[in-house]
Parts: sequence; structure tokens; C-alpha cells
Amino acid sequence: MKRISVLGAGTWGIALARMLCNIGHSVTVWSALPAEIEELSRTRQHKNLPYMDIPDALLFTDDVAAACEGTDILLFAVPSVFVRSTVRSAAPYITESQVIVDVAKGIESDTLMTMSEIIVDELNKAGKCNSVVALSGPTHAEEVAKDLPTTIVAAHADIETAEYIQSVFANPVLRVYTNTDVKGVEICGALKNIIALASGISAGLGYGDNARAALITRGLAEIERLGLKMGCLSDTFSGLAGVGDLIVTAMSKHSRNNKCGYLIGQGYSTDDAVKQVGMVVEGINALPAAIKLAAQYEVEMPIITAVDQIINHNASAVEIAMNLMGRDGITELSKPILDINYETAVIKNAAMRAQGDQSMKRVITYGTFDLLHYGHINLLRRAKALGDYLIVVISSDEFNWTEKHKKCYFTYEQRKALVESIRYVDLVIPENSWTQKRSDMHEYHVDTFVMGDDWKGKFDFLKEEGVEVVYLPRTPEISSSKMKKDLYDANTVDGESKTSHDDINTDPDA
Ligand SMILES: NC(=O)c1ccc[n+]([C@@H]2O[C@H](COP(=O)([O-])OP(=O)(O)OC[C@H]3O[C@@H](n4cnc5c(N)ncnc54)[C@H](O)[C@@H]3O)[C@@H](O)[C@H]2O)c1
Repeated sequence: MKRISVLGAGTWGIALARMLCNIGHSVTVWSALPAEIEELSRTRQHKNLPYMDIPDALLFTDDVAAACEGTDILLFAVPSVFVRSTVRSAAPYITESQVIVDVAKGIESDTLMTMSEIIVDELNKAGKCNSVVALSGPTHAEEVAKDLPTTIVAAHADIETAEYIQSVFANPVLRVYTNTDVKGVEICGALKNIIALASGISAGLGYGDNARAALITRGLAEIERLGLKMGCLSDTFSGLAGVGDLIVTAMSKHSRNNKCGYLIGQGYSTDDAVKQVGMVVEGINALPAAIKLAAQYEVEMPIITAVDQIINHNASAVEIAMNLMGRDGITELSKPILDINYETAVIKNAAMRAQGDQSMKRVITYGTFDLLHYGHINLLRRAKALGDYLIVVISSDEFNWTEKHKKCYFTYEQRKALVESIRYVDLVIPENSWTQKRSDMHEYHVDTFVMGDDWKGKFDFLKEEGVEVVYLPRTPEISSSKMKKDLYDANTVDGESKTSHDDINTDPDA
């Protein structure tokens, strides 16, 4: 049994307080509004959850000091705009052994801090350093109040702290998962409300389920785009706090963001829509921060920008929807095709091995490799991932001199020794002519031919020899061609140095 105080007596705070009380914890609810505390303790009902009885064991107080003192866990459940002021008023009474949990979802407009960051910030100012766990997921209070099965994520950088909260909150109707990506969980929690507004606006305009599904899917894509740039984990976006919360908020009849959006889509002003909803509409609060983050991290967020245009700049919802639909066509893929082809090839290779296909896959790559910098080593590592046996072919001194018109800094033997010392490499052989590639494929029983994507397409003719031709993404910052140009141009033979791939005919048979 833990002693838990819930700060905030709104819909979510009271639903959680009842649940925690019913599973045997000692729970006190505090509110900044004394009249609210008086009404709750007198009626033992909450106006937004009229079907929910508040257990007798649940205590109420309007004294923040009494709420904080002697508790194990302090749960912040006020709307995001009141989190900073609430921490400030509670901070003098908080002791460092207490674990703080935040359930509010939002991002502060001027500081761009998430809710847990605001709490840490205010506690630090008061000379305190508590653990703050973000608790977030697809959790409508209306359903938790009825003990309907629900899942949630407890996030803290230290997994043991997240597991502590998991163990305190878990019960037959609430399954708790953990995550260490606090920022990702909080970014999802704040931004999904804006996508829910978009989903509501779309329904209000009379659009159907197709549009709603598109907004959810593409909305998640833009939240993830931003989150990944901020250093969040991709798993978080496909998890409960990510897509889970987004689905429920954008679809459910309980969602105020969805409801508020619907009214706006129907032609209500934002103020009237918020008034009609009668509870905090966090998506509207989160908009300024979302727009600033998109600019700061240079991430395109068309749906969030569209909602901002409608809500904060009086744009016509119909026109904005038309503009969204009429944008230039783009791909759904978030990675370059070459990365995807490479990953597919690695997965295919691993799957073959897992299925007991013991036939050794042999991979070959060509390069002068006179300077083994990070880009080249990375390429060799990736090439090795495509097979079991990696052959590296490096230019002989004579080939360099007579065909490429280059003088090498290191002899063939020196370069060979260097490449052989890399653990990914199984065999190093010389390249003596342009024509040998076709015959190498057969002589060394090659399955896969690999080159960097700076050569894209130039070796496709080798497919005729029955090998797979793969162009691997190069390390973007490192151009070996540029290095070679810088280094070799000083050593041209008769003023000619073939450092540009375009100057080289890779298939003399053609
Ligand atoms: N309701 C849900 O289902 C749900 C689920 C998950 C997360 N959340 C998040 O929890 C937070 C609270 O949501 P809610 O549904 O309880 O909102 P709500 O609108 O029901 O909360 C209103 C409450 O805020 C408190 N409050 C009002 N003025 C205050 C002030 N000046 N200072 C401090 N507190 C004040 C009062 O206790 C009031 O009852 C939001 O960030 C929301 O996104 C809500």
C-alpha cells in the first residue's frame, strides 16, 4: 500500500484517484479550487463522471502542504497550463524521497518544455531533485471510471523508477508498460491532441472515415519526424503513448479535442467550441509550441500547421483541407530507396540462414582503398552484412598507373595488408583491368556485387552474370571521390587523372 496524493481534481485526476483507492492505496486529492474540494467531499460525485461513486476511503484537501506531506507518490493531474504554478506551490513541501508522476499532456509555449521538464525545472529552483515519471497512453477517464480495460505507459530514463510506478498502478483493469524515452512519450501525448482537433474538424466538415484514417496516419508520421529529430525512440511512436493514444483521441466520442474540432468544422468559433466542450482542450494549448518546434527542428508538419492556420489565423477549414490534398505528391517512405534495398537484402540473407540455408553467400566489392577512412570501413561492414564471405578487390599499382592515370601513395602490398587487417574482410585480390569484373563473378562464385551509391547504375550490367548488384548508401559526409581528387590531382600523369566516375567506362564490353 502506498500513500498517494493527486494534485488536481479534474476528470482524469479523480478517475485515477478512485482507481488507486480501490486497489488499496491510501489516496488524497487536492485542488487549487476550494469550492471544488467542498463539492466533491460533500457529493462524492464528479460533475463530468456522474456514474462514478467516489469511495469513502478517498480523502480530499485544499491544503497543498497537507497533500504533500508524508506521501510516497505525488501525482500531478492538473491541465498543462497549471502544471508550473502547481509545482511552485507544492515545491516547499516536497521531499526528495517522493516520486513525482505527471499525467498532464502538453508543451509550454515559451520554454518548449514538456510537463516533466517543467516539474524538474521548478523543483530544481527549489533545490530539489526528485524522479519525475511521465504516465501517458490511450486512457479516457470516462472508461477508467467504469473499470474498463485500459493500458498506459510509465516513462522514466531509469527503467527501475518506471517499473516502480508500473507496480504501484498495475491492476486487473490497468495494464502498465514501461519506457525510458520520456521525451518521446510526452511529445506524443502533447501533439496527438492537435491531430485529434484535425480529425474532429474533418468530421465537422462532413468528411468520412477515409479522411480520418489519413489524418491519423499522416499525423503520426509528422509527430514521429519531429520526435526522431529531437532524439526520441522510434518504438515510442508505434507504442501506446504514440499511435495508441493518437487513435483513441482522434476517434473517440470522449475526446474533447475531437469534439472541439468537430464544432469548429461545423462553423463554431474556437472560443465557442471550447466553451461548449467545457473542459481543457490541450490541443489548442499545444499549438504554439508545436509550430515553434517544427521551425526549430526544420521539420515539415503540414497537418499541425493546417490546424494552426484554422484555429489561430482564421483560415477557412475547407480551403485548408483542399490545400492539404493538393500538395505535391511525395513518397510514404521515410528512408532513401537505397537504404531500404540494403536493409531488405540483409533481412533476406539473415532469413535464408535462419531457415537453415547453409550455402555461403559470397560478396564482392571493388575499390582502391588506399585510405581506409570511416566511410570505407563502414561500406565494408555493410557489404559483409550481406553475406558470409567478403572479397575486396583493390587496384594494382600498374592498373592505377596505366588505366586510371593515378599514382598511389601506398603500394598494392601495403594497401592489401591494411584491408586484410579488417575483420569484415575475408579475401583481398588485385584489380588489373576494367574487364576482369565479369570473370571475377564466376571465378570467385560471387552472389552479390556491392558498390557505393555514388556508382549507382554503372554496374547493373553484372546482373547478366547472375549476381545481385547492390549499391550501398555512402556515409554522406565522406566523399572518397573528393578525397581522391584532392590527393591525386597533384599526381596526374600527363595532366590526366580519372577521378570522376563519369570519366570511367565501367563496362568495356558494352
Ligand atoms: N481526461 C482524460 O481522460 C485524460 C486522460 C489522460 C490525460 N489527461 C490529461 O490530464 C490533464 C488534466 O485533464 P482533465 O481531464 O482532468 O482536465 P479537466 O479540465 O477536467 O481539469 C480541470 C481541473 O483543473 C484544476 N484546476 C483548475 N484551475 C486550476 C488552477 N488555477 N490551478 C491548478 N489547478 C486548477 C481543477 O482541479 C479542475 O477540476 C490534461 O493535461 C489532460 O490532457 C486527461
